[in-house]
Amino acid sequence: MSVHTKKFGITKDGREVTSYILTNENGMEAEFIDYGACLVKLYVPDRNGKKTDVVLGYDTVEGYENTDTYYGAFVGRNGNRIGGGAFSLNGKEYKLSQNDGDNNLHSGPEGFERKMYEAETFEEEGETTIEFSRLSPDMEQGFPGNLDVTVTYTLTGDNGLVIEYFAVCDQDTLVNLTNHSYFNLSGHDSGNILEQKLKLKASRFAVTNQGLIPTGELRFVEGTPMDFRDFKPIGRDIEADYEPLRFAGGYDHHFEFDKEEDGVCLVAEALSEETGIFMEVYTDRPGTQFYAGNFIDGTKAGKGGFVYEKRGGFCLETQLIPDSVHLDCEKNCVLKHGEEFDSTTVYKFTVK
Ligand code: GAL
Repeated sequence: MSVHTKKFGITKDGREVTSYILTNENGMEAEFIDYGACLVKLYVPDRNGKKTDVVLGYDTVEGYENTDTYYGAFVGRNGNRIGGGAFSLNGKEYKLSQNDGDNNLHSGPEGFERKMYEAETFEEEGETTIEFSRLSPDMEQGFPGNLDVTVTYTLTGDNGLVIEYFAVCDQDTLVNLTNHSYFNLSGHDSGNILEQKLKLKASRFAVTNQGLIPTGELRFVEGTPMDFRDFKPIGRDIEADYEPLRFAGGYDHHFEFDKEEDGVCLVAEALSEETGIFMEVYTDRPGTQFYAGNFIDGTKAGKGGFVYEKRGGFCLETQLIPDSVHLDCEKNCVLKHGEEFDSTTVYKFTVK
């Protein structure tokens, strides 16, 4: 197990960006940058032992500074959409930027994926960790309170990438942190993910309006193209004539996990039959945005100059239902002053 660093590039305002490369004994390698606390590369051995980079990304800081796809991004304070780009908390109205039609998306336009982080590394027997932390000041992105936020990425000896989020605030605020990595288990430069198989432990998904804001209805997937309770190629039903798929242009929905308990448990599995790379997802979050990369427009070059096509990667952004601040749900994104946001998601790799 080891961690080493190298110079990644310079931001447009002249700050040096460093990359942190974690490796384990099985040939797995995970690279992160302190700009955006982004996951840049994730090499996993395939069934023949060939190291395969299974996440989409860029080779340059400029790529990350201009991203509208959020490759590898650490997303916050609030992942996904807030309807109308506004909310009220403790009787006060807060206005956010309307950067996605009338709505706010990923707390943009200047979200956590565009900030510089303090970095610290830890090596313990069997695992290495990179910790990124930062103070997000009161009213940054329009949210109240000074938020101390930390994300740690740990590479384990058994090919797990463990992501842990911690946040505390000196006022009540909104927090819904996630990671926006696009996985392509045949390799980031292999084309689209439509043949890759996915299984989600979710019998309900969130119905949305045309702006992708949940209506509050959690609909059963049974008998619909949204049913991933058994392994199914992502592409099998993606073009089905079904209103939720038409509104989103493919899969781009919150799936609510069937969980018997609150802790970290297995919620999703995915497989590339081409490489044999098999990914399990564990989390303590109530659901995930399953996004099939429908908005990748096939014009921008990513790593190695490869131009990613529409649906060139899929995301499993573990989180709360989007716009929970406006919904009457059991868990919402309000983080109370004095409480700690503490959450874990694990992406674990083996071969079949
Ligand atoms: C996803 C979101 C998509 C799209 C994407 C970024 O989280 O659900 O609709 O906005 O981020 O391109």
